[in-house]
Amino acid sequence: MWGLPWKYLVLCLLFLFLHLQAIFSVTSNCSSPSPQLRSSNQSFVLLHFKNAFLIHNSASIHCSNFDSFPKTESWKLGSDCCSWDGVTCDRSTGHVIGLDLSSSQLIGKIHVNSSIFLLHHLRSLNLACNDFMFSEISSNFAQFTKLIHLNLSSSNFSGLVPSEISHLSKLGSLDLSDNNAGHGLEIGQHCFNKILQNLTEVRYLLLDNVNMSSVVPGFLVNFSSSLISLSLSNTQLRHEFPNGVFRLPFLQQLSLSRNGGLIGNLPESNWSSPLRLLDLSLTKFSGILPETIGDLIHLNVLDLSYCKFTDSIPRSLWNLTGSSLVYHLHTTVFPDNFQMFWATSAK
Ligand SMILES: *[C@@H]1O[C@H](CO)[C@@H](O)[C@H](O)[C@H]1NC(C)=O
Ligand SMILES: *[C@@H]1O[C@H](CO)[C@@H](O)[C@H](O)[C@H]1NC(C)=O
Ligand SMILES: *[C@@H]1O[C@H](CO)[C@@H](O)[C@H](O)[C@H]1NC(C)=O
Ligand SMILES: *[C@@H]1O[C@H](CO)[C@@H](O)[C@H](O)[C@H]1NC(C)=O
Ligand SMILES: *[C@@H]1O[C@H](CO)[C@@H](O)[C@H](O)[C@H]1NC(C)=O
Ligand SMILES: *[C@@H]1O[C@H](CO)[C@@H](O)[C@H](O)[C@H]1NC(C)=O
Ligand SMILES: *[C@@H]1O[C@H](CO)[C@@H](O)[C@H](O)[C@H]1NC(C)=O
Ligand SMILES: *[C@@H]1O[C@H](CO)[C@@H](O)[C@H](O)[C@H]1NC(C)=O
Ligand SMILES: *[C@@H]1O[C@H](CO)[C@@H](O)[C@H](O)[C@H]1NC(C)=O
Ligand SMILES: *[C@@H]1O[C@H](CO)[C@@H](O)[C@H](O)[C@H]1NC(C)=O
Repeated sequence: MWGLPWKYLVLCLLFLFLHLQAIFSVTSNCSSPSPQLRSSNQSFVLLHFKNAFLIHNSASIHCSNFDSFPKTESWKLGSDCCSWDGVTCDRSTGHVIGLDLSSSQLIGKIHVNSSIFLLHHLRSLNLACNDFMFSEISSNFAQFTKLIHLNLSSSNFSGLVPSEISHLSKLGSLDLSDNNAGHGLEIGQHCFNKILQNLTEVRYLLLDNVNMSSVVPGFLVNFSSSLISLSLSNTQLRHEFPNGVFRLPFLQQLSLSRNGGLIGNLPESNWSSPLRLLDLSLTKFSGILPETIGDLIHLNVLDLSYCKFTDSIPRSLWNLTGSSLVYHLHTTVFPDNFQMFWATSAK
């Protein structure tokens, strides 16, 4: 393949791309193009996107779901793109509003000039579990101003997350987790502050394994009060974690594990009552485990292994052992009653 005159190929592609852009902007300025015409042009855009990738099942194998499937193979010129695997259209306008190419075995780069950025009407974009070969998340992602769900997890993205991502002010979920091959992803303080300021509707924020070493956790007090799930495992957060986060009213899942430099205490009052999962393992959270932890009647995973908590396990926790709570308290800090507690809770 590389024996071909690839320079011509590149030129052709470039020409096609410019042409596409022209077609697309003509369409979007048309007074009332029919849904068919719009979707046929979107077909072009999608096919162009598809052709930027090789397909190989090794690209999705790392995501432990075994149902990876090359969705783009069903994409063929001449059929309505709204019927293609992974594509969702708005019935009334014909616009492509959803693209789910998770676990689609895609291998290749997403460049700044990728045709995907012409799909301005997207509300949901899932590219998780592919291999984008250390592509950077370009600031062009900010063009998807209607996005509500963005999932770029486990896809070999790398580099600095652009602060323009904060323009996606309608986002309800943002998942950038587990892009940890190579240098991985990194979020700076500036970008993170803008995210906190602008993503006021975010309910799911998953940044596990993103390098956040320059983020000061104190700023996390300003998290959107709509948060349901916050996952910041192995993000290299350091210093004091603000315990206001434990009080977010809708919070169900909080994972801060594997941040060996993160210190903090658990609040003694006003916990977020819906909390179901609390994972503080391998952090430097310390102090006492307050009795009020027993008020978390929905808690079913509590992982405090290898933290620095002192003193004993509060009696109130024993009350929760009748529920399906799974404890992980493997640690050296409960010298006296750990064995007894373990025996009891294992019943
Ligand atoms: C997009 O940009 C990349 C990197 O700059 C370049 O290699 C590629 O040829 C460009 N593609 C098109 C279609 O212009
Ligand atoms: C849509 O794309 C087709 C095929 O490229 C093109 O002929 C047509 O002019 C476009 N429609 C509009 C409304 O621009
Ligand atoms: C097409 O629309 C864009 C933005 O919607 C605008 O900037 C541009 O001037 C328009 N072009 C024409 C030819 O009307
Ligand atoms: C990412 O890149 C590495 C190194 O090139 C490769 O081994 C791996 O399969 C790629 N995919 C993922 C998702 O890690
Ligand atoms: C992102 O996609 C992956 C793979 O499909 C999935 O496991 C994960 O739950 C998604 N994240 C969110 C926030 O929905
Ligand atoms: C917040 O979002 C709005 C609307 O998308 C955007 O105009 C503004 O630039 C964003 N502000 C920041 C700080 O990103
Ligand atoms: C995280 O980012 C910081 C600042 O860019 C860098 O010094 C550090 O080496 C990174 N850590 C890892 C594990 O890549
Ligand atoms: C939190 O937000 C408020 C209001 O926007 C601001 O005054 C305050 O400085 C912020 N706190 C932190 C720690 O960023
Ligand atoms: C706990 O909640 C009560 C009632 O909302 C409030 O008065 C009190 O100040 C809160 N305590 C803390 C420490 O936030
Ligand atoms: C355990 O539950 C019982 C019944 O709900 C309650 O009366 C008691 O105070 C609880 N014990 C602790 C230590 O929270």
